[in-house]
Amino acid sequence: MAKLHTYDVLIIGAGLAGTRAAIELADTCSVAVLTKVFPTRSHSTTAQGGIAAALGNMEPDSPEEHMFDTVKGSDYLGDQNQIEILCNNAIPTVYELEHIGVPFSRTPEGRIAQRPFGGHSHPRACYAADRTGHVILHSLFEQSVRAKVNYYSEFFVTELLLNGGTVCGAVAADMKTGELHIFHCTAIMIATGGGGRIYRITSNAHVGTGDGYAMAFNAGIPLQDMEFAQFHPTGLYPLGILITEGVRGEGGILINSEGEPFMERYAPDMKDLAPRDIISRAIYDEIAAGRGINGKEYVYLRIHHIGREAILKKLPEIYKFCMTYVGVDCTKDPIPVMPTGHYMMGGVPTDTMGRVIADENNTPVPGLYAAGEAACESVHGANRLGCNSLVDTVVFGRRTGKDMREYLAEAQRPALPAGPEKKTEALIKKLLSKTDGIRISELREKMQGTMMENCGAYREEKRMQKAYDEVRELAADYDKIALDDKTQQFNTELQEALELKNMLDFAAAVAYSAMQRKESRGAHSRVDFTERDDANFLKHTLLFKTDKEPHTAWRDVVITRYQPKERKY
Ligand code: FUM
Repeated sequence: MAKLHTYDVLIIGAGLAGTRAAIELADTCSVAVLTKVFPTRSHSTTAQGGIAAALGNMEPDSPEEHMFDTVKGSDYLGDQNQIEILCNNAIPTVYELEHIGVPFSRTPEGRIAQRPFGGHSHPRACYAADRTGHVILHSLFEQSVRAKVNYYSEFFVTELLLNGGTVCGAVAADMKTGELHIFHCTAIMIATGGGGRIYRITSNAHVGTGDGYAMAFNAGIPLQDMEFAQFHPTGLYPLGILITEGVRGEGGILINSEGEPFMERYAPDMKDLAPRDIISRAIYDEIAAGRGINGKEYVYLRIHHIGREAILKKLPEIYKFCMTYVGVDCTKDPIPVMPTGHYMMGGVPTDTMGRVIADENNTPVPGLYAAGEAACESVHGANRLGCNSLVDTVVFGRRTGKDMREYLAEAQRPALPAGPEKKTEALIKKLLSKTDGIRISELREKMQGTMMENCGAYREEKRMQKAYDEVRELAADYDKIALDDKTQQFNTELQEALELKNMLDFAAAVAYSAMQRKESRGAHSRVDFTERDDANFLKHTLLFKTDKEPHTAWRDVVITRYQPKERKY
């Protein structure tokens, strides 16, 4: 028998977006935050290099310039009304964080220090050494504890519940006990982060399995712009762990096997601080031309020239990662790096207040909200600029919380459907009952392999089709998996099985969306359609689940100030 809980608001995910929204709501309504890990282990904690705001502490800057850089970085697919909100709110957001105690690094005069980041025309990344996400998440978590937010840690949400198109709750498994819980609520926020784990090489923590994308898609909500998957240029070879762009912000230079600082050829002005899509492709091109180090699939990132003292002060975690994982002392030797799956620009479509959109006419889904990487409020378009995601999570987390509060003032809590836990109960029973079958890791590795090889940074029709077909076949094989662990308490194998189901669902959406976009734009780079095609594709993809192939619709891009131009760096 599932346990029933009643709340005004349910927030799924305890990273920066979810936590900021919870703080906004906690004094006026009852809020439950469900998270599959302990809150401060959410993936936001791994963000390293900075949070963007045009404070102008190092040289003059403005929200307008931040906006233009972001629009250009997005390859003109970002919605300009949303980007304007992001950039105008970035400055008060950083000051708010400062006031709650986030220990930002400082200039000698005591101002918040800012470092250059890719695609930004001024030093705009406010940072705390290379632990920026970690310190912001801890500071917000403290505030949420003070506000008496109710946390349910190690709860895995399996299903969103709707009644006649209006949100009414969710089903979750308590992984500590194996018990099922039903949350009956008036509004829900999806803040589950991204899904880089669909790729073999990724900077994402193991939690990055796109649960929010799958739960929305399976509830009939479309996914927007899922074809835009960002590869961060500098993952530590061969693991893919993030080596922050802050390394290049502090003066790091990429070099090939000939010792050449090759970014000068690809982006003569911004060089190593060009946007990520451009640098990742440049690294792949160097490797393809035989200029990878030792003939392998990596290049070098050189930073020792800024000096040991500066490295240990500004990049202490990077120093430790390099020593621990590959035995490289980056104060003396170059860091081996390669592109790594990092961020999904697409997600659950939302409007300016985080309300989830049900269709191309912008019809909201009553009571359903999303923010952070799980959402596509469309501030990043086809390519996100580094340090714009932390600010996105906090700005839109706050706005979403504010709008939910207003929604609650008017809304009724719809009834739950009958037997809401039955589907989850049947799925888990089936997973635990099979004694002989395929191992989860076999399906997962195949999925990660085909997505990496066939739907990575460079794409073409037949390879994307292969990725899609293979992921669909793997999804069909899901029924055949068997688990070794049949226990109820902390059954991490069961959790991995549930995560794999989500990944298979949304990986297929990524490959399918990618096939629909017959152009190259931002992170979506096709060898069979090499140019950007504004006449036909200056629009957002919206993908809907159906019983057969997904249905694709298109949503207009909002252009307010900046008409599309060729992107040069
Ligand atoms: O490179 C980094 O520190 C990553 C930042 C980001 O993805 O915004």
